[in-house]
Amino acid sequence: MRVLGIETSCDETGVAVYDTELGLRAHALHTQAALHQDYGGVVPELASRDHILRLLPLVDEVLAQARLTRRDLDGVAYTEGPGLIGALLTGATLAKTLAWALAIPALGVHHLEGHLLAPLLEEPAPAFPFLALIVSGGHSLLMDVAGVGRYALLGDTLDDAAGEAFDKTAKLLGLGYPGGPALARLAESGDSASFRFARPLTDRPTLDFSFSGLKTQVLLAVQRNGPERHADIAAGFQAAVVDTLVWKCLRALDESGRERLVVAGGVGANLQLRERLREGTARRGASVHFPRPAFCTDNGAMIALAGALRLAAGEREDASIHAAPRRELASLTPP
Ligand code: KG4
Ligand code: ZN
Repeated sequence: MRVLGIETSCDETGVAVYDTELGLRAHALHTQAALHQDYGGVVPELASRDHILRLLPLVDEVLAQARLTRRDLDGVAYTEGPGLIGALLTGATLAKTLAWALAIPALGVHHLEGHLLAPLLEEPAPAFPFLALIVSGGHSLLMDVAGVGRYALLGDTLDDAAGEAFDKTAKLLGLGYPGGPALARLAESGDSASFRFARPLTDRPTLDFSFSGLKTQVLLAVQRNGPERHADIAAGFQAAVVDTLVWKCLRALDESGRERLVVAGGVGANLQLRERLREGTARRGASVHFPRPAFCTDNGAMIALAGALRLAAGEREDASIHAAPRRELASLTPP
């Protein structure tokens, strides 16, 4: 089954074709980072308008890359939520319209299910069951994954998500938007031992995450030190977040007895996090699976994959346009 995937939940327009027999056929992405940069964050109305401009050309580009025509498609998957309502509506409307015109099914996909299944785009693909750490701009979640749609929440975001903490700290350090990658780059030239920030909630049994207190500590450090210490502060901050995430993942592995961990979401592109999780899981005889960095952040391939798995299993929805800004991942059911 050949499925077109469309992602428009936030500030990237992602389109891809996934074939349940041949795997990923093509993918393309347009990022709006430059569009929102002057505002220090995503401006929802600008995001929606830009998705409308980019979507159809990207669909044509992806089909050309895959040497397919619209008639070769067997289904369309689109991000139903969570996300910005206007942005979601642009992708959902195009998906439903294409599906109607081509007389094929369209299916709304949970954005985080896309992230969660993205490691399946890589070789070797992790087998179910596994634990999943989802660390994006809006979420820090630890899930137990028994199969597609069989998700149990182990740990949740209590305040700022990991990516949000990276972005806010980057802003304090005068770095542009989105701040995560820029902060990680600055941290490379800093000494992570010269600022020792707290590892939030690692002194308690909970697997929940809280990063807002860390942000306050960084703010104080920035106020008390000159710009020449920014790289050290960035390194200290990154070490605190990475330590916290690694500690919770390893504890969840120990407690659950699962042997595989997958990491997804934008912060999953962080090299320090990847290295530390590789070491920690190897010491336990467990394995860790990451999507390639381009599939950690938002992309169409993960939506095409998740939609293809559900459509191929026979899942269908009504003809109306589905867009849900807020939606719990643990409420999903198997196809
Ligand atoms: O998954 P994603 O693309 O979008 C959401 O669904 O939120 O994640 C974006 C987040 C941003 O907060 C960005 O700063 C962060 O991922 N991010 C990183 C890195 N690359 C992206 N954070 C730390 N290190 C990175 N290398
Ligand atoms: Zn995302």
